[in-house]
Amino acid sequence: MTKRPILIHPDPRLKKVSAPVPDLSDALRKLADDMLETMYDAPGIGLAAPQVGVNSRLIVLDCVKAEGETPRPLIMFNPEIIAHSDERSTYEEGCLSIPEQYGDVERPAEVSVRWIDRDGNEQQEDFAGLWATCVQHEVDHLDGKLFIDYLKPLRRQLITRRMQKLKRERTRV
Ligand code: NI
Repeated sequence: MTKRPILIHPDPRLKKVSAPVPDLSDALRKLADDMLETMYDAPGIGLAAPQVGVNSRLIVLDCVKAEGETPRPLIMFNPEIIAHSDERSTYEEGCLSIPEQYGDVERPAEVSVRWIDRDGNEQQEDFAGLWATCVQHEVDHLDGKLFIDYLKPLRRQLITRRMQKLKRERTRV
């Protein structure tokens, strides 16, 4: 597995609507495995393909955070949120493409998700808590949407300016 560089906001590739995956291939499975390695290394709990510069509908996640608990890596091709609860919950979200910036985002507390797994089988599962927030955050990436798009404009602009500065500093090194 190979770690891939993570794009930092603002980047036009993070704003694009990603294309559905037509057929699984070894290249796509390799991409998914690389994304998991990149996510664990960061460390993070979710990563979407556009964040590594590939505009395909693929996300990976693992929201098991407790020390000693068994990891649960999930690879989702063409994930779709097919139902959500009326009940909503708020989490302080962050994003590997927006390092060290956080903001409260309110989303449905529970979601039903359908996707194609690494073996090409259709899966469906209900998610709650952090898992529900994370899967919605990652699916948003596939539609060119970032968590800061839910924040007030001034806060969003402040974070974007910080990221522009961070990118300038990184290119200078
Ligand atoms: Ni993100």
